Amino acid sequence: LLDAARADFAAATTPPQLEDAKARYLGKAGAITAQLKALGGLDPEARKAAGAGINVVKQAIESALNERRDALARAALDARLSAEALDVTLPGRRRPRGGLHPVSMSIARIESIFGSMGFDVADGPEIETDWMSFTALNNPENHPARSMQDTFYVDMNDSEGRPYNLRPHTSPMQVRYARAHAQKHAAALQAGQPFPDVRVIAPGRTYRVDSDATHSPMFHQVEGLWMGQDVSFQDLKSVFLQFFQAFFETEDLQLRFRPSFFPFTEPSAEVDIAFSSGPLKGRWLEVAGSGQVHPNVVRHFGFEPENTIGFAFGMGPDRLTMLRYGVNDLRQFYESDLRFLASFAA
Ligand code: PHE
Repeated sequence: LLDAARADFAAATTPPQLEDAKARYLGKAGAITAQLKALGGLDPEARKAAGAGINVVKQAIESALNERRDALARAALDARLSAEALDVTLPGRRRPRGGLHPVSMSIARIESIFGSMGFDVADGPEIETDWMSFTALNNPENHPARSMQDTFYVDMNDSEGRPYNLRPHTSPMQVRYARAHAQKHAAALQAGQPFPDVRVIAPGRTYRVDSDATHSPMFHQVEGLWMGQDVSFQDLKSVFLQFFQAFFETEDLQLRFRPSFFPFTEPSAEVDIAFSSGPLKGRWLEVAGSGQVHPNVVRHFGFEPENTIGFAFGMGPDRLTMLRYGVNDLRQFYESDLRFLASFAA
């Protein structure tokens, strides 16, 4: 009987099958149970001996049953473990990571290079008053920059009854910054104390009615202003040279000033650079506008042209980014094509 039970148990491969097999021996209608019941018909002596024998077999069957139960449970656990196995040595799945826009990276670099030369970084509104964008900067009433063909206007008037504009350049930020420093400057002069030069750059978005491979209706500028008692074009030139060498990571470049015109500077100069090696070698590239701040503008800043001289400049971080990375079409920066943008990931 024990051998038959062991064979039955071994044949059971699932817990319900094992329970069925158990019932055939130990259940109410099982073989062992039947034998125990049959003991009642024996006389006491024989019952005792037979009973003891049946109990030995019964216990052996029970322990065979338990062994098989354990074996099935272990097999089930093994199966689960191998089915749910994790290979902790596999490399993880990468999550796609965002990155800074190439123009943002350039602006951050421009800020840090000018920062290292003692320039503060200023900010200002993108929607400007007519006075800040034009009048303070000596733009005549009939200057083309004021026309609707060049500047975006907002359908709302400022306190002088003139429409607000989307600033067409970052220059209004130099007006705001200078005006915020003028009183301290004047007070220091009055007290015979030195006042530190005003040195600031102001990067930001600018807007013009224009769109082609090198113009976008929204683009960026970085404004620069340096005002003091004793500043010269020479100082401006050395700042430019250091800046462009740092920005393009090469000492192999030349710089020249080319006479130009802006209403807010006199004299005015375009700044050109030329690399002596690399793909752009030997070509003069226009990279900034600059000039000595016009006396009228110095007055609008709240400074006196008699005792303060200022130099201003403006450059395009979009264009600097194009030159640095060899991008030909400015509009690529603003089409949000991730394949293009991801190629700049730092
Ligand atoms: N604001 C000028 C422009 O938009 C650039 C400039 C800034 C030129 C400061 C001279 C001085 O083109």
